[in-house]
Amino acid sequence: MIRDKWCGEIRESDIGSNMSLAGWVFRRRDHGGLIFVDLRDRSGIAQVVFSPDVSKEAHGLAHDLRGEFVIFVSGEIRQRPEGTENPNLPTGMVELYAKELKVLNESTPLPFPMEEAAEASESLRLKYRYLDLRRPELQNNLIVRHRATKVIRDYLDERGFLEIETPMLTKSTPEGARDYLVPSRLNPGHFYALPQSPQLFKQILMVSGLERYFQIVKCFRDEDLRADRQPEFTQVDMEMSFADKEDIIAVIEGMIKRLFKDVLGTEIEVPFQRLSFKESMERFGNDKPDLRFGLELKDMADLASKGSFKVFLDALQSKGRVKAINGKGMAGLSRKEIDMLTEEAQSFGAKGLAWIKIKNGFESPIAKFFPEEVLRQMAERLEASEGDLMLFVADKEKVVHDVLSRMRLELGKRLNLIKDGFRFLWVTDYPLLEWDEEGGRFAAVHHPFTSPVDEDIEKMFSMNVSGLQTPDSELGTLRARAYDIVLNGYEIGGGSIRIHRRDVQKKMFEILKISEDEARLKFGFLLDALEYGAPPHGGIALGLDRLVMLMVGAHSIRDVIAFPKTQKAVCLMSGAPSTVELKQLRELNIKVDIPL
Ligand code: AMO
Ligand code: AMP
Repeated sequence: MIRDKWCGEIRESDIGSNMSLAGWVFRRRDHGGLIFVDLRDRSGIAQVVFSPDVSKEAHGLAHDLRGEFVIFVSGEIRQRPEGTENPNLPTGMVELYAKELKVLNESTPLPFPMEEAAEASESLRLKYRYLDLRRPELQNNLIVRHRATKVIRDYLDERGFLEIETPMLTKSTPEGARDYLVPSRLNPGHFYALPQSPQLFKQILMVSGLERYFQIVKCFRDEDLRADRQPEFTQVDMEMSFADKEDIIAVIEGMIKRLFKDVLGTEIEVPFQRLSFKESMERFGNDKPDLRFGLELKDMADLASKGSFKVFLDALQSKGRVKAINGKGMAGLSRKEIDMLTEEAQSFGAKGLAWIKIKNGFESPIAKFFPEEVLRQMAERLEASEGDLMLFVADKEKVVHDVLSRMRLELGKRLNLIKDGFRFLWVTDYPLLEWDEEGGRFAAVHHPFTSPVDEDIEKMFSMNVSGLQTPDSELGTLRARAYDIVLNGYEIGGGSIRIHRRDVQKKMFEILKISEDEARLKFGFLLDALEYGAPPHGGIALGLDRLVMLMVGAHSIRDVIAFPKTQKAVCLMSGAPSTVELKQLRELNIKVDIPL
């Protein structure tokens, strides 16, 4: 071995022994007589001292060391002189007095100083990701990620789950995003799709009698990217036979408990809180609420209808909603600041933001539209008192919920209401179908293999589903055996009990206006498999990137992925995607319609 110990491991118990270390020059301080080098490897930092009294040669060489040179040093571990200890470092009581120095490799000047790497622009850091990844924070993120997957594998293995790989070159899976396609050279004009998830294959594995499957697996989705979405991301994917919702939930709660305990040393209380989809939407405006703070949305329809503010009355008239939140202590905002808040609400899709300050009475351009008693009732409902600012949005339900859920988060941050800690939540009782405005028909809320609740299966069969669908159709009342898991405002997983009966699956496709032919073309193999004794089964997939992001307190999943892509799905380091040679395209029988 080149070295005896890792830099971060030397301790007072090593004092007096001779030892060799290797790593990168993090910092170099030349004090004339003595040269100090902070030597860094994955484990931490060790202080190396070059003194002409110990080795003239090593001291001479140390003059030429620069940031990120790779070196080998050997010498004696000594106690640091009194007053020079660094209690912030685990190695801070000791230092290595170098007798020998070898430069194993040099480094050209860096595109950004390592000490301030975290402040460099993200695009520069992504281009030089190998340097960025030398930062202890990022290394720690990858270490936590490694530990997390190890704990998850052990946990699931102990419960009889088998890790089984499924194909990457496959057929389209209906998770609702656009596919990444791969042309087949051997089958001109044919394409594989990279899996959006292993959904169909894991169900087939249940039909095959494997009973319990899991996989830590890459999934690919060509969708609009943001801080918690990458084009390729990792799922902890699982499926169980002869299981109901409670079995899946128990496995996941146990896994999370074990994960947080073993990796972070944090106790997580189980069972997790549950909310129905409907309650979550009503109270928080979305189905992934951050429960670390209140600021809940309140329905104001009955009170709004007792006034004469046209915006509110119009919204209610057209079956819309009027809801509000309490900007705690925000009555001091100036007109200009309120205008900015309004613009923010508009950027979230609102037409406007109505407000009422509670400041020596009610102060608001809309106060005149309401009797004093109604204003008081509004305040009471919002638990608003002197110094607070009531904020209202009136619109279609979707807009009201969208805007207020985002305003709630904004205000939560701005007012410093968000407490530390991990608040897990199950969202259950999803509707099976949701109205798709654009398509003018119903679409699956999760995916088309999600089972309706037992009581709704007969109802589903009795429905006439041919012809045009309308948003108020009974279809909207069907309930799904689906569940999502939420942590601190992020959807970290979702799953369901599946349809295991061929006739139910067929009906579901009919409802979704997926023709026999189309169903056969896309999922024929699953439909066939359902004919041959499919057991009842269900499962879930957790977004590993999001989970680890939250565990380490990062703000983007890019910080927990070694080689992430930008918002434009580009890898700035490797330069993917790129053009290819004409010859390659010809082999694939592909003509590209834009100049290369
Ligand atoms: P779903 O589509 O909900 O379910 O995906 C499961 C979880 O994966 C994470 N996730 C993502 N993470 C990062 N970038 C993305 N682009 C991205 N998309 C999704 C989320 C999400 O909750 N087959 C079903 C699971 C099942 O029914 O068993 C599925 O894929 O955290
Ligand atoms: P106006 O009648 O357009 O002058 O608006 C009066 C107040 O109502 C302003 O503060 C607007 O921001 C607000 N407002 C307008 N449309 C809406 C809406 N759909 N929901 C809530 N407030 C609104």
